[in-house]
Order: sequence, then structure tokens, then C-alpha cells
Amino acid sequence: MTSNVPDWLNEAVFYQIYPQSYYDSNNDGIGDLPGITAKLDYIASLGVNAIWINPCFVSPFEDAGYDVADYYQVAPRYGTNEDLIQLFTEAKKRGIHVLLDLVPGHTSVQHPWFQESQKHEKNPYTDYYVWNDSIWEMSQKDLPVVRGYAQREAGYITNFFWFQPALNYGFAQRDPRFPWMQPVDATGPQMVRQEIKKIIKYWLDQGADGFRVDMAMSLVKRDPDKLETARFWRWIRDWLDEEYPEAVIVSEWGNPAQAIPAGFHADFLLGFNCPGWVSLFRKRGQGHWHDPYGWSFFDESGHGDIRQFLDEYKSYMDVVKNQGFIALITGNHDETPRIANNKSLAMMKLIYLFLLTMPGTPFIYYGDEIGMQFRELPSKEGGYQRTGSRTPMQWSDEPNAGFSKASAEGLYLPVNPAQDRPTVADQDKDPDSLLNRVRELIKIRLSLKALNADAHFEPIYAESGKLPFVYTRAKHGQKLMVALNPSSQQVSVTLPKDLMKISPNVLDAPDSANITPTDDGWRLTLGPVSGALYQIH
Ligand code: NOJ
Ligand code: CA
Repeated sequence: MTSNVPDWLNEAVFYQIYPQSYYDSNNDGIGDLPGITAKLDYIASLGVNAIWINPCFVSPFEDAGYDVADYYQVAPRYGTNEDLIQLFTEAKKRGIHVLLDLVPGHTSVQHPWFQESQKHEKNPYTDYYVWNDSIWEMSQKDLPVVRGYAQREAGYITNFFWFQPALNYGFAQRDPRFPWMQPVDATGPQMVRQEIKKIIKYWLDQGADGFRVDMAMSLVKRDPDKLETARFWRWIRDWLDEEYPEAVIVSEWGNPAQAIPAGFHADFLLGFNCPGWVSLFRKRGQGHWHDPYGWSFFDESGHGDIRQFLDEYKSYMDVVKNQGFIALITGNHDETPRIANNKSLAMMKLIYLFLLTMPGTPFIYYGDEIGMQFRELPSKEGGYQRTGSRTPMQWSDEPNAGFSKASAEGLYLPVNPAQDRPTVADQDKDPDSLLNRVRELIKIRLSLKALNADAHFEPIYAESGKLPFVYTRAKHGQKLMVALNPSSQQVSVTLPKDLMKISPNVLDAPDSANITPTDDGWRLTLGPVSGALYQIH
């Protein structure tokens, strides 16, 4: 068993909800918290047992809510704090855990802390942010400065967009030429740390089950190995283990080898830092801004290379084993395009077989369960290229795809206008739909111990440029084998004799899949774009 990790996380399947775009309960054109609550029966019908909601707090929304102006207050456009607590209660009734989104690295310039901090007179908030000491001082490469937006004669360091001033956690490596770079134990950084802890405590006490943590690696500046940033999170985690042992923190770090030892229960593989992850689904000139070249592993050409993913994955696994989990996502509000773009139904089903049989913590981004597509759209609230991955959930054939009864022009973002856009209502009725396949696979995952997050994982056949990809999972004497063929050609491989003593039980496989003993070993054949799940003995 993984140390100090709540049991529920070991069996968790997450669903990420972008609240703006999920369901509009009061017909003002934007999704809201009562809208999520209204859809909890649907969410439960997927079989997921946890959700993560993007930031839903008071904000000017210049970065879709990642510019928080009040950490303790739900944004009016989403409802009230009571609505959020109601969502916790209703989710709990259905066995669904709820993670909020914590943004500890920066606030909005409208946050009262910043409004005080930027004043000429010294006050308790003066050192809450990273300020230099001259309005004429320019940015350094790793420290972008905004000049001319404060009363005090200084510029502030930004963490992301210009209106997201970096909270002050101090500098791990200080430069004597710049005395404004404070040490991590200075008063300002220490006060900021207490503020973040207080926010976490507040929402856990209201009934939240934990947090996805935005830019978790960004806190301490000039911290090359992230050791000081990790020290902060370790302090938070030790306190959680003591006071809130069921709470979970999942990081946006993109480097589990740093994030898990730092104290996170799980960390995402993400486009900006994980080319191996990108190589699974988002290559082949599909315009992924990180690495558009080459072929995805999940490509019908069969030209992909599983080692690009696996070498990266294994290097993380070797570090995090028994401490925490790697979170594999279908996508999120930043990744573009959506996963289903340019993929067939068969390919999407195969991808879910992979995602839901791998170790760690799977996250399904809302809409990816029905194969929603990405469209290019003008930027909204700082979305830029990401905007097209954030369109309204497609519920039905009603106006606005059942997302809202507001006029189409009044929607937060336009609904995909395509005639054949996928909807929940259509796929619900169709036993062969992606939606019903996802439900089936989640059910399978939750019924087998060997598919727990912490169950043993071993690649059996994973050769560069070759197919299929075969791996085993095992726990408490239960052993499974998964084989995947993304190519449009039938593929075969001979697996070692000692892999199993007798022929395996088919748990989930099409008729085209076949496994037979031969003198050399087990001969496995898979039809085009298909996979199989076996129990082996
Ligand atoms: C990562 C979030 O996922 C993204 O949407 C946001 O723009 C930045 N962090 C800044 O908070
Ligand atoms: Ca609304």
C-alpha cells in the first residue's frame, strides 16, 4: 500500500469540470455551481468517484478565474458559498469527492492584498508580493516585471499574465546585487505561507476533499531544483497528514519526480513539460504547440513509438513508487486540441482502455467522454489557443445543445455548431457509443484490485516502432494483461512462455483478438485499432 495516501485515492477516477461551460442552471448564459449539482446523477452514472472544479472564486476573470480576488468567496456568476457547500453535500451522497482549484502562486491585481501592497506607505501587505526597489529596473529573464502599475516606486514580478503578480515566497538563491530578493524565511514570505494554509483549512472545513494546485512549482523564485518550493509543500502535507488525513492535493507541476517527494499525492503529466505524454495522443501535425512533429502512438498509421512515452513514464515511476501517483489526463482546459480531434470512435475506445488500465490517477476532462471536438475560437478570458477546448458541454439536441436556455449570442462561449456534434442524449441511447464504453471501462477498473492506482505495472512488450504494446498489472495475487494495437493493420507478437501457465480468461476483448500457446510462447494477435484485457494465471 502506498504510504499515507488516503484509500479513496487508490481507486479514484476523476472528472474535471470547467464550471463556465458545464451547465447553466439559471439561464444567464454561463455554467454555474447549481448546474454542476443538477448534473451529479449524470456524473455518477459515468462511474467516476471524484471531480475537480476549475477556480470558482471572486475574480475579474481575465484568466478564467486563475486571477483570484477573494479566496473565500464563490464568484457571483457561479452562485454562492452555500451553493458550493450544497455541491459538496450532494456529491458526498453519491460517493463523489470534490477537489477545488487552489492558486497559490499569484493573485489578481484586484486582490485586496495587492491593493494594499502597491501603496506608497509601508503596511502589513508590503512584502506579500515580489517587488523590486526601483521603477526603472527592467525584467530579468526569469523575473518578468510590470512597471508603472503601482503607487510605490517599484515594479512587481508576475507569475503568468501581467495582472497576476507573484506572491512572495522568497528566493532560494539570492543575488547580492538585488537586496529586494528576500530570503524564504523573511516576514513577507512567512505570512504568505500562513495565508495559503488558512485558505486550504477554510475549504476543507466547509467540506472540500482537497485541491488541484495551480503552478505548484512556481512559488519560491530562483529555486533551480525546487527544493525550497518542495519544503513549503512538505510542510503543508505533514500538516494535512496530521489534521486532514483524507484530504488530497494534486499538483500542476508536470514532474512527478519533484512533486511527489515534495508532498503531493499525485502530479499530472502535462504538455509543457512532458513530451512523452504529448507523444501518446497529440502529434501528427495536429498543432500541439509543444511538439507538433512526428506521430502519436495512438495513430492508425502505426508509426508512433510507445517508448517515447514509456521511457519518460518509467523514469517518473521509479521515483514516485509507493509515495504517490502519476495522473494521466485525457486533456484539460489548457491542452489543445481536445483528445478526440482527428480520431475515430475505435481509436477513442482504445485510448480509454489504455487510460483506465494504467496505474495512477486517471482524469477525464468534461466532454471527452463523448468525444467533444476542439474548434478554433477568438480568445475569451485569457484563453487564447486554449479557448476551443473550453466550449459548452453538449447535452442534447435542444437549443444550445441543452447547455443553457439563454439566447445563443448570450452564451459564455459558442456551442460547437456542427450538425453531427456528439451529445450525451444520443450516446446514452447507443450501446456502442463512446460514452457507454467509458462507463463500462470505469466499471471494470473499479471491480479489479489489479487496476488500483498502486497495483504493480510491468511492460511486457514495448518496442520502439513496433506493435502491439503489452503490459501487466497485478495486486494481491490477481494478475491482468493489457494489449493495445492502435494501427489499422492486424498485428501479432509472441510473448514469453512463462508469462502464464494456462490460457488466460478474456475479461474484455473483441472477437478479432486471439491468444494461443505455441512452442515458442504465447502467440497474441490483435485486429486493427483494438485492444484486449485478460486475466492471466
Ligand atoms: C495553469 C492553469 O491551468 C491555466 O489555465 C492558467 O492560465 C495558469 N496556470 C495561470 O494560473
Ligand atoms: Ca448560470
